[in-house]
Amino acid sequence: MGGARLAGEVRVTGAKNSVLKLMAAALLAPGRNTISQVPAILDVDIMAELVRRLGCGVTSSPGQLVIEVPDVIGDEADYDLVRRLRASISVLGPLLARCGEARVALPGGDNIGSRGLDLHVAGLQKLGAQMESEHGFLIARAPHGLTGATVWLDFPSVGATENLLMASVLAKGTTVIDNAAREPEIIDLARMLQSMGAKVEGAGTSTIEVQGVPGLSPTSHATVPDRIVAGTFAMATVMTRGDVEILGARPEHLEIVLDRLVGCGAAVSVLDDGFHVSMGERPKAVDIVTLPYPGFPTDFLPFIVALNAVADGAAMVTENVFEGRFKFIQELVRLGADVRTDGHHAIVRGRERLSGAPVDATDIRAGAGLVLAGLVADGLTTVSEIHHIDRGYAGFVEQLRSLGADVVREPAPYAETFGG
Ligand code: UD1
Repeated sequence: MGGARLAGEVRVTGAKNSVLKLMAAALLAPGRNTISQVPAILDVDIMAELVRRLGCGVTSSPGQLVIEVPDVIGDEADYDLVRRLRASISVLGPLLARCGEARVALPGGDNIGSRGLDLHVAGLQKLGAQMESEHGFLIARAPHGLTGATVWLDFPSVGATENLLMASVLAKGTTVIDNAAREPEIIDLARMLQSMGAKVEGAGTSTIEVQGVPGLSPTSHATVPDRIVAGTFAMATVMTRGDVEILGARPEHLEIVLDRLVGCGAAVSVLDDGFHVSMGERPKAVDIVTLPYPGFPTDFLPFIVALNAVADGAAMVTENVFEGRFKFIQELVRLGADVRTDGHHAIVRGRERLSGAPVDATDIRAGAGLVLAGLVADGLTTVSEIHHIDRGYAGFVEQLRSLGADVVREPAPYAETFGG
C-alpha cells in the first residue's frame, strides 16, 4: 500500500554477488573454510547445495557457512542447480584448477539478456584449457594443469574476471588479466584468495597479476557488505521522501549512486558504520548511464527508472551492460509510469504519483524496483513472482516494514490451492 515515508535504520549484511564466488573459491583449498557475513538468501542455499554435490560438507548457522572441502572433489556441477543460478558458472575456474577437468551445466539465473560466456571460454583457453560444449554442459580440460598467460578481456566482465582469477591462482607461472572488472566484489574475492596463500596483485584496478602457487590453505573470511541492497534502501528513501540510516554499508562503494541522489535533492552523510539519507522534497529527475564499476551500476537501473517515474522533470536513462534490463519497464508502465524506450535508451517523464496495480517481478532487481514503485503508488500494488526477490534480499518485507512501509508478504494463490 503506497504512501508511507520510510524512516528509521536498516542494516545490510554480506553481498550476494560476493558470497557466491567466495563459496566457489573455497573449493580451491582442501580443509575447513569459514565464510561470515553470509546473507540468508535463496541463491546462497542453491550454491550450498551445488557445493555439497561436489563432495563438500556445508553447515550453516545464522550469518555463517562452514565449507569442508575434501582432498578429492567432484568435477561436475549439477544441471538442475546450475540452471537456477548463473553465478554457479564461477565453479568452473576452481574445479578446473583443482581437478584438471570441469563439467558445468550451462547456467540459468536472471533472465536479463544473452549473457554469453565467450570471455570465460577464451580466457581459460589462453591458460591452456581445452573447452567444448556438449549436451548442455560446458566442459573444460587441462589434464597437465593450467599455465599462466596474459588475458585481455574485450569487456570488463565480472564473472569472467572472477573465473580467470580463481583458475590462475594454481596455474604454473604468471597470469595477467587485463581490462579486468574492478567491482568491490573482485577485491573481496582477491582478499579471500590471498588469505588462502594465493599471490594476487592489482585487484580493484584494470590489471590483475597472479603468481601461481602449488596449493592453497583453508581460511576464514567475512563477506563485503552488499552495496546493491544498501543502494536499494537509499533509493527507496529518496523516492518516499524519507529519512533512513543504512548501517553496515560502505558508502565508498556507492560513490556515483549517492552523488546522483544528491543531484536529485537528497542529503547524504557518512556515518561510522554506514550512511544516512534524507529527502524533504520531490526528487528532481536525473540522467543516468550504466557502466562497469566505478560507473553507475546496471543493477540499479530499475530503481533509477522508478525514481525518475515520480521525479520532477524528464530524464534519459541509458543501459549499456545488460540488454534485457528494460523488460521491467513494461511492468512499471502498468503502474502508470510515463516511459518510452528506444534501443538501450529510456526517456522517463516524472509524475506526481504512480497508481497501484498487479505486476510481475521479471528478475531480482526488477522485483525490488517494483516494490519501490509500489511504495509511491496510490492504493494497492501486488508484486508476484517474488521468488526473484528472495534470491538476493534477506527479509526485504520485514526490513521495509521496520522502516514504516505498509507491505506484507502473502502466499501466491497457487500455494493455497495446491499446498505448495
Ligand atoms: C555480475 C553480477 C550482476 C551485475 C553484473 C555487472 C553476480 C552474480 N552478478 O554478473 O549483478 O549486474 O556483474 O556488474 O555477480 N558477457 C559476455 N561474455 C562473457 C561474459 C559476459 O558477452 O563471457 C556480457 C554479458 O552478457 C553482459 C555483460 O557482459 O552483457 C556483463 O556481464 P558480467 O560483467 O560478466 O556480469 P555477471 O558476472 O554475469
